[in-house]
Amino acid sequence: MEMKEQLYEGKAKKVFATDDPALLIVDYKDDATAFNGLKKGTIAGKGIINNRMSNRLMAMLESKGIPTHYVKELSQRETLVKRVQIVPLEVIVRNIAAGSFSKRYGVEEGVVFDQPTIEFSYKNDALGDPLLNTRHALALKLATEAEIASIEDYSFRTNEILKTFWASCGVTLVDFKLEFGRLPDGTIVLADEISPDTCRLWDSKTGEKLDKDRFRRDMGGVEAAYLEIMKRLEANL
Ligand code: TMP
Ligand code: ASP
Repeated sequence: MEMKEQLYEGKAKKVFATDDPALLIVDYKDDATAFNGLKKGTIAGKGIINNRMSNRLMAMLESKGIPTHYVKELSQRETLVKRVQIVPLEVIVRNIAAGSFSKRYGVEEGVVFDQPTIEFSYKNDALGDPLLNTRHALALKLATEAEIASIEDYSFRTNEILKTFWASCGVTLVDFKLEFGRLPDGTIVLADEISPDTCRLWDSKTGEKLDKDRFRRDMGGVEAAYLEIMKRLEANL
């Protein structure tokens, strides 16, 4: 698969065309940002870990009936994916109160919900990714009703699969963000990445944070946390 021109550079990844118009190559960087790019830094080796982790988890989801963009890992940082049109929604599933949920609703971090929650943000950096409900998404024509139904269904099913898997690694899946895309025939598939950048992962016994919150909150031990979570994943696949 020949890599062609760079199509896009995001905060954590670059995207390249290939000689097949249906396929793209994603290249994971070590760059880290938070708070809509206000905080910038580097997490050494993050790109390698996120690439591997995302690919392993997408392959697991695919085997359990969740369609994804994942095709093939090409190198430590590069993966071949299906070209999709990204649905401009950030989908957040939560099992436990943390982060913006705790802040917005005045709930202590760590409160366990009886049932998972879901919320959507409009993926738009200029607007600061504002929270919206599904009727707002319809009004803005970001997705159709049928697409939103598929996205919700896949998101909750993904939560059950990942929660069970991470529990087997001694890790609690607190919350995570997903993005979806449309294949040329309109099929909705899981896209973007699933990594410690996009999930909150707490050690089940100690509650220690093993994710990007260590970077967002200047807690130190960022690289060590990414390595630890990757070690747990590899040991339990
Ligand atoms: P939040 O509590 O800050 O809304 O974050 C919820 C989850 O979404 C958390 O696991 C981190 C992830 N997330 C992203 O992947 N990208 C983002 O831009 C934000 C704000 C959160
Ligand atoms: N990566 C996101 C940003 O820079 C935020 C985050 O993950 O906290 O906006």
